[in-house]
Amino acid sequence: MGRMGVWLLVGMVGMLIPVHGQDQIPGFISIDCGAPNDYYDIELGIYYKKDDGFVDSGENWQISTLFINENRWQQSKNLRFFPNGTRNCYTLRPEKGKGNTYLIRALFFYGNYDDKNQQPLFDLHIGTDYWTTVNTFNWTYYEIIHVPTTDNIQVCLINTGNGVPYISALELRLLNSSIYPLNSASLSTRWRYDIGSSDPMAVHRYDSDNTKPTHN
Ligand SMILES: *[C@@H]1O[C@H](CO)[C@@H](O)[C@H](O)[C@H]1NC(C)=O
Ligand SMILES: *[C@@H]1O[C@H](CO)[C@@H](O)[C@H](O)[C@H]1NC(C)=O
Ligand SMILES: *[C@@H]1O[C@H](CO)[C@@H](O)[C@H](O)[C@H]1NC(C)=O
Repeated sequence: MGRMGVWLLVGMVGMLIPVHGQDQIPGFISIDCGAPNDYYDIELGIYYKKDDGFVDSGENWQISTLFINENRWQQSKNLRFFPNGTRNCYTLRPEKGKGNTYLIRALFFYGNYDDKNQQPLFDLHIGTDYWTTVNTFNWTYYEIIHVPTTDNIQVCLINTGNGVPYISALELRLLNSSIYPLNSASLSTRWRYDIGSSDPMAVHRYDSDNTKPTHN
């Protein structure tokens, strides 16, 4: 399935979206998987929500105390894992719905949460389309640009028999479709970052990816 033929390595330039205010940023969905409550991350300038309402299965857990202070990103400290079923999905319902261009970002930090010291290997799907395989121990994220044909977007963790899938955070950003004129449904581009543990998110987030809101 899926037309995943076009792999553009797009720079992160030009994703500026004018938005207003500090609460929920329009077009943004930010989930801190496994978090006990919603909160505002002052450093990133993003409101994160807990999983409620986005996923029905799985269980919340905290990473090993050995790693918890090593990583300053709040989103890495908890996760949600899915011991049951081969396919467990988050459902995202962006305000602007189908036909728009979205950046979807999934973040992972194993942090030996299960005391097994063995990073699982599992797949991510968007709906039924293969997106990527998650296979690193380090704080990592994967991004994809997606133009959905339905108002709901499903991001699914697929158990491939190599350990229990988990996820640390899941984010959706509305992009300017005139900059990313993707005419159809499917997955159009992807890239992946492997980030060391010293300053894991320094290259990633918000200031550098130009999706930072301008407060005007
Ligand atoms: C997984 O299934 C077992 C057995 O049915 C159940 O006890 C457990 O609560 C389930 N865990 C989750 C996270 O759904
Ligand atoms: C999208 O980008 C185009 C071209 O840079 C610009 O003219 C337009 O104002 C942008 N739209 C939004 C909603 O930012
Ligand atoms: C990434 O994880 C591997 C173990 O899979 C480890 O050996 C390596 O040091 C880590 N890299 C960084 C930059 O932390």
